[in-house]
Amino acid sequence: MENARKVKSTYEVNHTELQAWVNQTADLLKPLNIRWCDGSKAEYDEMCNSLVEKGTFIRLNEQKRPNSFACFSDPSDVARAEDRTFICSRKKENAGPTNNWIDPKEMKQTLRKLMEGCMKGRTMYVIPFCMGPVGSSLSHIGVEITDSEYVVANMHIMTRVGKKVMDVLGSSGDFVRCLHTAGAPLEPGQPDMKWPCNPTTKYIVHYPEERSIVAYGSGYGGNALLGKKCFALRIASSMANEENWLAEHMLILGVESPEKEKTYVAAAFPSACGKTNFAMLIPPADLDGWKVTTVGDDIAWIKPGKDGKLYAINPEAGYFGVAPGTNEKSNPNAIKTIAKNTIFTNVAVTPDGDVWWEGLTKEPPKDLIDWHGKKWDPTSGKPAAHPNSRFTVPGNQNPAIDPEWENPKGVPISAFVFGGRRSTTIPLIYQAHNWNSGVYLAATMGSETTAAAFGEIGKVRRDPFAMLPFCGYHMGDYFNHWLQFGRDIPNPPRIFGVNWFRKDDKGNYLWPGFGENMRVLKWIVQKVKGKSNAVESPIGWMPQYEDLDWTGMNFSKQDFDSIMTIDREEWTKELLSHAELFERMYDRLPKEFIFMRELLLSSLWRSAEKWSLEPEVA
Ligand code: OXD
Ligand code: MN
Repeated sequence: MENARKVKSTYEVNHTELQAWVNQTADLLKPLNIRWCDGSKAEYDEMCNSLVEKGTFIRLNEQKRPNSFACFSDPSDVARAEDRTFICSRKKENAGPTNNWIDPKEMKQTLRKLMEGCMKGRTMYVIPFCMGPVGSSLSHIGVEITDSEYVVANMHIMTRVGKKVMDVLGSSGDFVRCLHTAGAPLEPGQPDMKWPCNPTTKYIVHYPEERSIVAYGSGYGGNALLGKKCFALRIASSMANEENWLAEHMLILGVESPEKEKTYVAAAFPSACGKTNFAMLIPPADLDGWKVTTVGDDIAWIKPGKDGKLYAINPEAGYFGVAPGTNEKSNPNAIKTIAKNTIFTNVAVTPDGDVWWEGLTKEPPKDLIDWHGKKWDPTSGKPAAHPNSRFTVPGNQNPAIDPEWENPKGVPISAFVFGGRRSTTIPLIYQAHNWNSGVYLAATMGSETTAAAFGEIGKVRRDPFAMLPFCGYHMGDYFNHWLQFGRDIPNPPRIFGVNWFRKDDKGNYLWPGFGENMRVLKWIVQKVKGKSNAVESPIGWMPQYEDLDWTGMNFSKQDFDSIMTIDREEWTKELLSHAELFERMYDRLPKEFIFMRELLLSSLWRSAEKWSLEPEVA
């Protein structure tokens, strides 16, 4: 039976270890055929056409949305499966308290049983891919085995795929093994599902010591496109810890001043805090000559250069962005980016073959097909697009793409920005006193949960460095790695905290956000160059009203004060609640954190009850 397996490849494979892994995997999974992906346009088109034939893809209107497709997933398969995600390090204590863990030996037995024959009736695709520019010393190679044409097409957009990667890999290069199956074998004559997946069993498994990944049962996003969260964050964070670099859940943007001086900033925000919007920000016209460009919208790999600076690449080649809420106001660059060559997953489809989601326009178009593939009833109270519906699109379609985004040397990072969604307590902008206090700021970052995310609305969920679901090892070790990393570089980037989401007593947002965030960004990039002013507050350095550029914006001193005040009671509660996080990882928590919390508490209690930039004169 195995001998009948056809193998298709347009190039020769001289990598013995890779070949052996592919053969062993095929013997267990028993696919009909093997196909080595070459990354060509013809291959991409073939995948899309075959998905159209199977009924998975809907080809969108060629005039309105050229070369683009929509698809609807199985309702059981709409998001990253955090509770089915495991870090199977040899020792439980190395996965830490924030990760699910099962003994790797036991996990391998479980998966082996599930995997036996799981690709029957299907083609097994072998995708050599590169995270980061091909040939860059900051990049790393992976090989994904999958039985999903949807995954092949998406990997073409999200990573660099094919022969060019095999050329760099050569006959003995290192690669991360990424094995994915939808877990939906086909018996002869059995009709295929439109969205192959296993509705009841899902596993997303990482073996950090082996640098390998096995994903079973889901065809969606981060569960299936293994280059993204699984490799570029979970496995890479563990590699980075061993090899003295950083793999972070961060966007990278460039800020160009009117004098054409360029500053690169990396920023971490938890999911659902407008990361893609910030990465593609268009400054208000009144801030003449300032420009923002995008290097990446989700992940940054950062390594120290010989000159002591930190250099970052975006390991991804495309964006897998959340569609709902994206519109001409929130993100005009994203709207332009997705005008063509885009795969839409779980959005609604219009009768004339275009796409729609909540927030795209005020009024929904008539006669929509919802993400279940059914006629949508606007009175049902249910959204037409799934709240986690996505677009997959090549990065080079972004009109604001940074000219250096594929520079194999990376871009030099001058500042790190951390921000969650907080309706109280955290001011619009502040700068940590130094690297250590910046690491503390990032480690204790929290975000209020939204309806789309975790059931209970408005509760602060601690999400250290926005890495809670993505750190591939013990979070306490991760904090120590960050502290040490800063000690080893002569002049580390400055660290800032931001909060675009503070509200007044009536629940109204106090800050307009979006393009206006440029005013904060301008202060940040000038601050790292020693060109903007600040005063010292109990929690760090803060701009006064006149230190921000308000040209063309009606925002009073009083308004500013309302988003910058540090309320002692609120902050005391905040600091005390950090203990919950610390207790969970006490065995490996940096000792510095205990003292930094004390220091913050005592600074607060030595200043005014409501510390303000405009203290009232007695
Ligand atoms: C993402 C996430 O999909 O962070 O990027 O959840
Ligand atoms: Mn993300």
